Amino acid sequence: MNRRIVLIDQTLLPGTLTTIEIDTVDELIDAIKRLAVRGAPALGVAGALGVALAATNGSDVPKEAEKLRKARPTAVNLAWGVDRVLAKGSPEEMVAEAVHVLEDDIRRNADLGRRGAQWLIDRVGPRVNVHTHCNAGALACVEWGTALGVVRALKERDALGHVYLDETRPLLQGARLTAWELAQMGVEHTVVVDSAGPTVVARRLADAVVVGADRIAANGDVVNKIGTYPLALAAARAGIPFVVAAPESTIDPHTPDGESVEIEIRDAAEILHPDSPGASKALNYAFDVTPADLVTAIVTDERIINGKPLD
Ligand code: MRU
Repeated sequence: MNRRIVLIDQTLLPGTLTTIEIDTVDELIDAIKRLAVRGAPALGVAGALGVALAATNGSDVPKEAEKLRKARPTAVNLAWGVDRVLAKGSPEEMVAEAVHVLEDDIRRNADLGRRGAQWLIDRVGPRVNVHTHCNAGALACVEWGTALGVVRALKERDALGHVYLDETRPLLQGARLTAWELAQMGVEHTVVVDSAGPTVVARRLADAVVVGADRIAANGDVVNKIGTYPLALAAARAGIPFVVAAPESTIDPHTPDGESVEIEIRDAAEILHPDSPGASKALNYAFDVTPADLVTAIVTDERIINGKPLD
């Protein structure tokens, strides 16, 4: 039976909403590397579907799975999704498991979104202004979103104030993707440059910072899009909650702390101006580490964590 993966090409948003069709694992790896599909939970589902695709194509499944696992190093969900499907015996079971991972993502994110919204209402009050970073919305998952899932659930409860979001350089996941999603949701929002995020927090324009995560270490350190750490510092100084919304699959029991996580370093061309002198170098860290002591709460599909996830 011919099977293919269909996904939204996130590189073309917000201008163009179109899908791409993936027939091979190599095509999927290319889509992952150029961020056509991105965001930790979406990478988990892509990894799961990719292994199922390899199995139905009659490819060397363990070899293809290994290539997929390495397509991007930081979000643990990718390897998690690959391993979930790899553990199954037959191509039929692998496809069924991949579909299960996909469907489960929707339910889990809706659960964590509602749990996070309730936590914020209890802590902040009946109207919550939120600051967020990058894109942790439906695009980064299958539907619903994690940090934006909390925003969605606040709106559902009529408890959402204003949303501030960082543009998220260099690839503008905030200004392009989160702004697009918030507009679709009919949510009032304001985009700021990344370096203004801590000022928005310091001025108490937001009541809480809510972000997603690519990997949460056993000690509670949080790895997320570069620019998250300064927001956590600002939130601590301002005395407002810094909340991480992520499914349990983002918690990595095998990673003791944030320092042990491989931080993806992307191409210099993403940040150097084409006319930059050839002598200029670039260090394009894609993620940073927020130490556990700056995290007020981690909200997952199963619990609220105030401290170490593995205690
Ligand atoms: O490089 P990206 O766009 O894949 O980075 C995504 C993020 O950092 C998100 O905040 C994270 O994956 C959580 S998505 C629910």
